[in-house]
Amino acid sequence: MKVFVVVCMLAVAFRLVAAVVVPSAAPGGLTVGYYNGKCNNVNVESIVYNTVKDFLDADRSKGAALVRLLFHDCFVRGCDGSILLDNSTANPTPEKMSGANIGIAGLDVIDAIKAKLETACPGVVSCADIVVFAGRDASRYMSNGGVSFDVPAGRLDGVVSSAADATNTLPDSKTGVATLISNFAKKGFTPEELVILSGAHSIGKAHCSNFDDRLTAPDSEINADYRDNVLSKTCKSAPNPTLANNIRDIDAATLGDLASYVVPAVGGDYLDNSYYKNNKNNLVLFHSDWALVGSNATLQHVNEYAANGTLWNVDFAQALVKLSKLAMPAGSVGQIRKTCRAIN
Ligand code: HEM
Repeated sequence: MKVFVVVCMLAVAFRLVAAVVVPSAAPGGLTVGYYNGKCNNVNVESIVYNTVKDFLDADRSKGAALVRLLFHDCFVRGCDGSILLDNSTANPTPEKMSGANIGIAGLDVIDAIKAKLETACPGVVSCADIVVFAGRDASRYMSNGGVSFDVPAGRLDGVVSSAADATNTLPDSKTGVATLISNFAKKGFTPEELVILSGAHSIGKAHCSNFDDRLTAPDSEINADYRDNVLSKTCKSAPNPTLANNIRDIDAATLGDLASYVVPAVGGDYLDNSYYKNNKNNLVLFHSDWALVGSNATLQHVNEYAANGTLWNVDFAQALVKLSKLAMPAGSVGQIRKTCRAIN
């Protein structure tokens, strides 16, 4: 009987401890090299990089997906792995079910990294940190090393994920510059940083439903040939098809005369400042991209980065670090998930 009472007391005590609200990051905050020495001789960041590299060597499109995953995770409730949670009976509509997350991908890369790390070092590395490391490594890979930086770690995984939050927080590609500026300001980002981060659209692809408003945009906002012979034709070709974000990555046959505008790159689907050069030629996909040339607060930076790719590499790296420091709302519960798709 006594043993039973003690066991019950221990169980109650354990539940109390488990329910205590822990901070959203490790004690001491985020630090560069956070996992050094926390996993015997395992080099956590090398495991992440090598796995990202293997996946991208096999399928380069996953690079853009991982960069976007970092943005979409961190912008909504901070970098907490909330984008990774699958729907469940307890939570039927997590973030990934929001329309704003259409096309979200690269989750298989995160799963593979987490599986390797749980084998090498169980219960230590958060999914939130994996998303940030993978986004950083994908940026480096996609820019051939141009965008290369250290990123602090020590995040915990959140337990909240809501499609409504994602819909209300993530920027919409059909909005104007004032809305974009205020959307980024709410997260502490300047108009210049909005311009810098938007340069990520030099890679990847988008669904027609996110740029169909551009099919009727006036000639002053979009190159007419691009609008009528590339965007319109693509959108008519299938139900909600995708098109490369960067005109550079569209095949020459589709481009026709527009091919002369293509900014030469080291290879296709390459993360660089070509986005800004395209923007000055009215050759960007989204209204929200074009909108950046429509205000002096942003146009001066479009011009600056169109002229200086090295500066953009450095500033993009800094802006990603800033993005990676967005924290969960105060008082949030944090944990290290066993699997990235479900809370413990
Ligand atoms: C400025 C406001 C932004 C808007 C309105 C926006 C909107 C979008 C939309 C609508 C798509 C296409 C999704 C689809 O149809 O499948 C997309 C793709 C993408 N976005 Fe953004 N985005 C913004 C900022 C950012 C930022 C800050 C980043 C990263 C730093 C980013 C990275 C990407 C990438 C890499 C893709 C391609 C994804 C892929 O091919 O898998 N975007 N964005």
